[in-house]
Amino acid sequence: MLSLHQLRNMNFKEEIKRRRTFGIISHPDAGKTTLTEKLLLFGGAIQEAGAVKNNKIKKTATSDFMEIERQRGISVATSVLAFEYNTYKINILDTPGHKDFAEDTFRTLTAVDSVIVVIDVAKGVEEQTEKLVEVCRMRNIPMIVFINKMDREGKDAFDLLDEVEQKLGLRVVPLSFPIGMGYDFKGIYNIWEQNINLFSGSEKTQISDTVKIEDINSPDLDQLVGAKSANTLREELELIEEVYPSFDRDSYLKGDLQPVFFGSALNNFGVRELLDCFVSIAPSPLPKQSEERLVDSAEEDFTGFVFKIHANMDPNHRDRLAFVKVVSGQFKRNTPYLHVRHNKKLKFSSPNAFFAEKKQIVDVSYPGDIIGLHDTGNFKIGDTLTEGELIHYKGVPSFSPEHFRYINNADPMKAKQLFKGIDQLMDEGVAQLFTLNLNGRKVIGTVGALQYEVIQYRLEHEYGAKCSYESLNVYKACWVDGRKADPKEMDEFKTVKQRFLAVDKRGQLVFLADSSFSLQMTEQKYPNITFHYTSEFE
Ligand code: G4P
Repeated sequence: MLSLHQLRNMNFKEEIKRRRTFGIISHPDAGKTTLTEKLLLFGGAIQEAGAVKNNKIKKTATSDFMEIERQRGISVATSVLAFEYNTYKINILDTPGHKDFAEDTFRTLTAVDSVIVVIDVAKGVEEQTEKLVEVCRMRNIPMIVFINKMDREGKDAFDLLDEVEQKLGLRVVPLSFPIGMGYDFKGIYNIWEQNINLFSGSEKTQISDTVKIEDINSPDLDQLVGAKSANTLREELELIEEVYPSFDRDSYLKGDLQPVFFGSALNNFGVRELLDCFVSIAPSPLPKQSEERLVDSAEEDFTGFVFKIHANMDPNHRDRLAFVKVVSGQFKRNTPYLHVRHNKKLKFSSPNAFFAEKKQIVDVSYPGDIIGLHDTGNFKIGDTLTEGELIHYKGVPSFSPEHFRYINNADPMKAKQLFKGIDQLMDEGVAQLFTLNLNGRKVIGTVGALQYEVIQYRLEHEYGAKCSYESLNVYKACWVDGRKADPKEMDEFKTVKQRFLAVDKRGQLVFLADSSFSLQMTEQKYPNITFHYTSEFE
């Protein structure tokens, strides 16, 4: 007979196996929100369409930063959407498509085990998709591509597959294929399950039952879609077989092969196929690398890391919500855990789990789950929590910002408040702070220009401090890696480039290059020093 411990262990392993934690990435407007919503509808997590719309930073509001902040506030509730589908527990992590919040998205990608990439059939591969996919590719995150809006006229399916391969550097394998497109769009042939889904009615809003097609050459197909479409489909499927590799789950899991699905999220078409295939092939929570060792999700001791911090939108309540991904073991309520950076034990009486439309206090969470912890200033993005082991999770790097400005104190009586405010906003990851070596002046680096207004507003309203900015010409922030250089070369570099050197919040040395040319010259002059665009490097 199994002991209680063995039984618990079995249950624990089952819980891990049934979890799917992923993000949906896309260029704004490709259909991420619509797809998310349809997935929730399938899971029975919401009852009607439109429920997730709050989640979205609407395009009409891009110039109005307060509106964006307000919407971001609302989006706390939808940062993580958890629901059950068949025997699976699904956690969708929201990734803002707005490019000024790209850093948020990059960090969220450190907490996902796989992603779905949504592409608009008419627009093809767009800029934001390229950037995000590159990050996923660098980390070998398994990806599935969903080509959306097949009800509209768009690019030819094969051309689009080529574009995805070329622009995104992926190796694709179509697992479904459209029958016609736009006006002629009849439905989808599901290569994965070998069946067909057709629209019924002229409005293209209804979907008829799924029809199993064992043999693509069967006359049943002609009956279903007409001889012409049937023949085209046969030719296309033949071509697919010749040109594309066959699906291999290991290659997908290693990030070497990306399945592609076609559909229309708005019309609920091709979404179930995507979801069913996703749950069966996508990885359950993966092992994660810490600075010290690789940690497996099935290890008994709890470990996790903070990948996102969200400020309370109500200035009267200064507490924040820290989002923690459980990497291994079980996170239990009211249990003391070690905050490794502070070397201090903390206990949480009301950890939140996130469901489709609400937060809820949970007693226990498993690997792959995201918990929200109320925080009064203890956490910083990237912090590790454990049961006592001293490990530090890697993989929440800072990327070089795009904009740089000096920040000055505009109210000398409030210097303390200003520094505290800057400190906390940086912990939240709103922007990055660099302190110049030469004179200690502080420089704020951001991904979008919008963040400067957000920082100024929040410093004033949450901390009672005032600031002003001054422009500064910086092309890129490069983290300096001098491990291969001898001390003489480093010393010379530090002396000659003193004016351009700063430290980031962790105390790492950063070279603020003023142009791409000067960066190139510096690289040539100091060949043993490496300059990285991110704060984490091997
Ligand atoms: P995002 O989160 O990626 O930014 O995109 P979102 O889902 O909000 O979709 C952007 C627009 O594309 C929306 O229209 C949405 O209705 C539409 N859309 C999504 N999927 C499909 C599809 O399969 N076919 C077609 N034809 N349209 C699709 P909107 O007019 O901007 O917003 P709304 O007023 O409809 O909400």
